Amino acid sequence: MRNVEKYTTQYFMPPVPCYDWTKKEYVEKAPIWCSVDLRDGNQALIVPMSLEEKLEFFKFLVEIGFKEIEVGFPAASETEYEFLRTLIERDMIPEDVTVQVLTQAREHIIRRTFEALEGCPRAIVHLYNSTSVAQREQVFRKSKEEIIRIAVDGAKLLQKISSEMGSDFRFEYSPESFTGTEMEFARDICNAVLDVWKPTPEKKVIINLPVTVEHSMPHVYACQVEYMCKHLDYRDSVVVSLHPHNDRGCGVADCELGLLAGADRIEGTLFGNGERTGNADIVTLALNMFSQGVDPKLNFEDMPSTVALYEKVTGMHVYDRQPYGGKLVFAAFSGSHQDAIAKGMKWREEKECDHWTVPYLCIDPKDIGREYEGDVIRINSQSGKGGIGYLLEQKYGFVLPPKMREDFGYAVKNVSDHQHKELQPEEVYEIFRREYLNINDKISLVDFHFVRNDCIHAAVTVKIGGVEKEIKGDGNGRLDAVSNAIKENLGIQYQDLTYTEHALEQGSKSRAAAYVGITGKDGRITWGVGVDSDIITASVKALFSAINRQERKKD
Ligand code: KIV
Ligand code: ZN
Repeated sequence: MRNVEKYTTQYFMPPVPCYDWTKKEYVEKAPIWCSVDLRDGNQALIVPMSLEEKLEFFKFLVEIGFKEIEVGFPAASETEYEFLRTLIERDMIPEDVTVQVLTQAREHIIRRTFEALEGCPRAIVHLYNSTSVAQREQVFRKSKEEIIRIAVDGAKLLQKISSEMGSDFRFEYSPESFTGTEMEFARDICNAVLDVWKPTPEKKVIINLPVTVEHSMPHVYACQVEYMCKHLDYRDSVVVSLHPHNDRGCGVADCELGLLAGADRIEGTLFGNGERTGNADIVTLALNMFSQGVDPKLNFEDMPSTVALYEKVTGMHVYDRQPYGGKLVFAAFSGSHQDAIAKGMKWREEKECDHWTVPYLCIDPKDIGREYEGDVIRINSQSGKGGIGYLLEQKYGFVLPPKMREDFGYAVKNVSDHQHKELQPEEVYEIFRREYLNINDKISLVDFHFVRNDCIHAAVTVKIGGVEKEIKGDGNGRLDAVSNAIKENLGIQYQDLTYTEHALEQGSKSRAAAYVGITGKDGRITWGVGVDSDIITASVKALFSAINRQERKKD
């Protein structure tokens, strides 16, 4: 590409190797989650949320388990001020939840922020100023010492006002644009702020390390986080928090590697809503943990409702392939995938497996409120017999013999191919009904009865071209006797007859499904299905279905 020489790396590696995080394999426990949906997320919406929408979203965040929620930047916007006041005045902050407010390190903004917090039972006051080389040089035109002074003065003012108010608010400091800051300087400015606040294990301070703009691969961030964890003073009194944005699409990876590197807390949003390409997606992070057997301590058991609420209040759309939440993320259209899933599900059932190992599905969709039919096995012209048969079995209870699955698979694919569209389960069933079930047109079954002595004698009344007649045949079994009656009296030829049956529903009102395949002169099997409350009738109906279908082929 042209202009590539314009770009160069814009991040800072730690001055010493920091690769201990590579020795860890996965995140072993849930971090402290802080939702920034109502501040950072809201700030990025085309139409920011109204007060009512924010209240609804806040209640939902509490419901799914967030204990820390950044509710806004009250000094920067009237709606955010009013929102915080409403939460306080309506007593809407549960006892185990702490709200967080953001403030720049500027006196009038800090003062206004504390005004908004009047009467708040608990809060985290989040102070920030920009520390990166680019911001220092181009935006603030200040030296490192001057930037540290801004942070320290802000930290002192937080402490002063908070103690004047007699509040017990907690503090957070973010060196904004941390990843574009020299690591030694990031360390120094955070330690300078910590020296003001003097945290204790009983009253910890949060040091938040934002990836304000993502400039590097996630392993670079992990090294930076590890460096900070190793070089922050008061470490046992500091909660190290991460706040990655997603410019390179690595927001989630930044968090995961950052947690391996020693961080304790994550700031992010549902589905990664946030400025530009968004913030780290907490849904993905939490369910990634869940998929490895770690309880994320957030509840996404009803993903469809989570998506619906999120879309309603933010006006954003959850992308179809968004991990876990997207409509298509568990869907398998292709035959081989469907077959593997269907077999995996059967295996699970037969072996009574404790652990989830079904191919192609990273978690059990049911654990987050998704359905197998409709969400997983989806039918189009790419689909195969395994998935189509699985769907018919799961939704309608028909367990087709393996060879018939193939035949039915072709019939369904054909329709989807011709109509050039995905087929819904009802449409798949309709093809099955129309093609195979109780087909009784050309040669219709009117009645039958049997007499048994040395063998079974069948007398069958059929109607052909509007005329009824009785035909008779003998056999070792009932179906055999009916089959012989047809062959001997109606001049219909076939060789082998295969037969299977099963109950369709459990209990006294159950119906039976019977499947008959007859092999024609060309060696091809024609299938028919019969359903009736009486198993013999179901089998005779299945035979007539197969014969009628074979006759149809002659037209
Ligand atoms: O992305 C960012 O750097 C921020 C800070 C205010 C924490 O949102
Ligand atoms: Zn941010």
